[in-house]
Amino acid sequence: MTNSVTDILEAHRTHRNFTDQPVSDDTLAKIISTAQHAPTSQYLQAYSLIEVTDPTTRAALGKITTRATVGTKGRLLVVLADQHRNAKLAATPDAKRALTELDRFMGSVEDATLMTEAMVMVTESLGLGSVVLGSINNDTQAVIDLLQLPALTLPVFGVQIGYPASQPETKPRLGLDALLFKDHYAEPETYQAELDKFDAQLHAYYQQRGSNARDEHLADMTREALGTAAKRRDFLKIARRAGFLPEIED
Ligand SMILES: Cc1cc2nc3c(=O)[nH]c(=O)nc-3n(C[C@H](O)[C@H](O)[C@H](O)COP(=O)(O)O)c2cc1C
Repeated sequence: MTNSVTDILEAHRTHRNFTDQPVSDDTLAKIISTAQHAPTSQYLQAYSLIEVTDPTTRAALGKITTRATVGTKGRLLVVLADQHRNAKLAATPDAKRALTELDRFMGSVEDATLMTEAMVMVTESLGLGSVVLGSINNDTQAVIDLLQLPALTLPVFGVQIGYPASQPETKPRLGLDALLFKDHYAEPETYQAELDKFDAQLHAYYQQRGSNARDEHLADMTREALGTAAKRRDFLKIARRAGFLPEIED
């Protein structure tokens, strides 16, 4: 039971190294216009994209994401949560107010997120690779200033797209018994065994992989990821400055 979509998803891996082969305008347009068919909350299409071409801005985003190649290789998009366009269209004070509320704030972030994953899939279907860059929000305000974002827009992800310079191994994923429950949240009897099985797979993956082989275990990795995770405590404040969430107290 496979088809091209299952093949593409099962072969997914993030690419972070790209060749100098240019990605044509047609290819980029195809990636974006195909991905636009992703579901969109209330059919509001509450996202926009900015392609960053200016070398100085790209270099700045390379610094913010801590990935120098973001500044130079392939094409670089910033995916925005965008209710600015809908506020123009809606035009009445009540509708404009509704666009600022938590529900539509989340709707715009959800739309931007689904659009991003759809672009990743189309990119891979065309033989290219990509990396999703949540790290552009390491400095949200700087990105807003660099890209001159208007009210009711916020950066959600960077997406760098290019021709892969290497083929990293695919990373394993949890088995269904660790995340698919029936009718209510109840860990099956096989839950711990499933986690242990995944831990063994993960360990083997990190030991066997061609570059940067390491001794890794799931619980340690989870702790480590949380220890180093950005806290992004200013994001809500910035969202409020952008006109979202007026009901939230400072
Ligand atoms: C929301 C989100 C944010 C991410 N941000 C970054 C990032 O800032 N930098 C990066 O190198 N990879 C980033 N990634 C890629 C993940 O590290 C990657 O998907 C994960 O390690 C699993 O590897 P795989 O995609 O190769 O299967 C991000 C992925 C997601 C879904």
